[in-house]
Amino acid sequence: MTQQILTTDRLVIRELDGRDIDALYAIFSHPEVMRYWASPPWTSITQAEGRLARAQEGYRSEEDFQWGIERKADGALLGTCSLFSFNRPSRRCEIGYALGRPYWGQGYMGEALQALVAYAFDTLDLNRLEADIDPRNNASARTLERLGFQKEGFMPERWIVVDEVSDTQWYGLLRRNWQGAK
Ligand SMILES: CC(C)(COP(=O)(O)OP(=O)(O)OC[C@H]1O[C@@H](n2cnc3c(N)ncnc32)[C@H](O)[C@@H]1OP(=O)(O)O)[C@@H](O)C(=O)NCCC(=O)NCCS
Repeated sequence: MTQQILTTDRLVIRELDGRDIDALYAIFSHPEVMRYWASPPWTSITQAEGRLARAQEGYRSEEDFQWGIERKADGALLGTCSLFSFNRPSRRCEIGYALGRPYWGQGYMGEALQALVAYAFDTLDLNRLEADIDPRNNASARTLERLGFQKEGFMPERWIVVDEVSDTQWYGLLRRNWQGAK
C-alpha cells in the first residue's frame, strides 16, 4: 500500500508507485521543467521506470526520498519533492523539487514545501536543509526565499549538462531560522 507522508489543503505528499510512470515521464521529459535540472530531459519511458525503482529503493533504505505531490481534487500527480544527500550525524540533507509544466504559477510547490520543511525539522529532527539551484532559476529562488532559505554561496561551473556549463547558487535553512519552528 502506498504510504501517505503529508497532507496540505490541496495536496497529498505520498510515495510514488506504478500508477505514476506516465505522469513522471510527462514531468521530467518537458524541456521547460528540465531547463535548469542537473540532467537533460528524459527521452524514454524506461527512465521513468528506473526513477520509480530508485525511489522505491530509497523508501526502503531511508537514504533518499522522492515523494509524489498529488492534487486532492482529482488525484493528478503534479510533481515530486525530495529529501536526499543525508548526513545523519550533522542532521542535514538537501531538498529538490519539480512541478509539471501545466501546474506552475498556482502556489502548489510553496504549499508542498512548507509541509516538507516542517516534516524535515519537526519529524525527521533535522537541523539544516540545503538546496543547489541554477542562479538563473528565478522561480526556484523565489520559492526557496519565501520559505526562509538564505543564499549562502556561489559555486562557478559546478555542473556540466550535455554541453552546457552552469553555476550553483547554494541555499541553506537552519531549523532555528524556520518560521514554523516550535
Ligand atoms: C520552481 C517551481 C517548483 C516553482 O513552483 P510553482 O508552484 O510554480 O511556484 P509558485 O507558483 O509558488 O511561484 C513561486 C514564486 O516564483 C515566482 N515566479 C514564478 N515564475 C517566475 C519566473 N519565471 N521568474 C521570476 N519569478 C517567478 C512567482 O511569482 C512566485 O513568487 P511570489 O510568491 O513572490 O509571487 C516550478 O517552476 C518548477 O517545477 N520548475 C522546474 C523544475 C525546477 O526548476 N525545479 C527546481 C530545481 S532546483
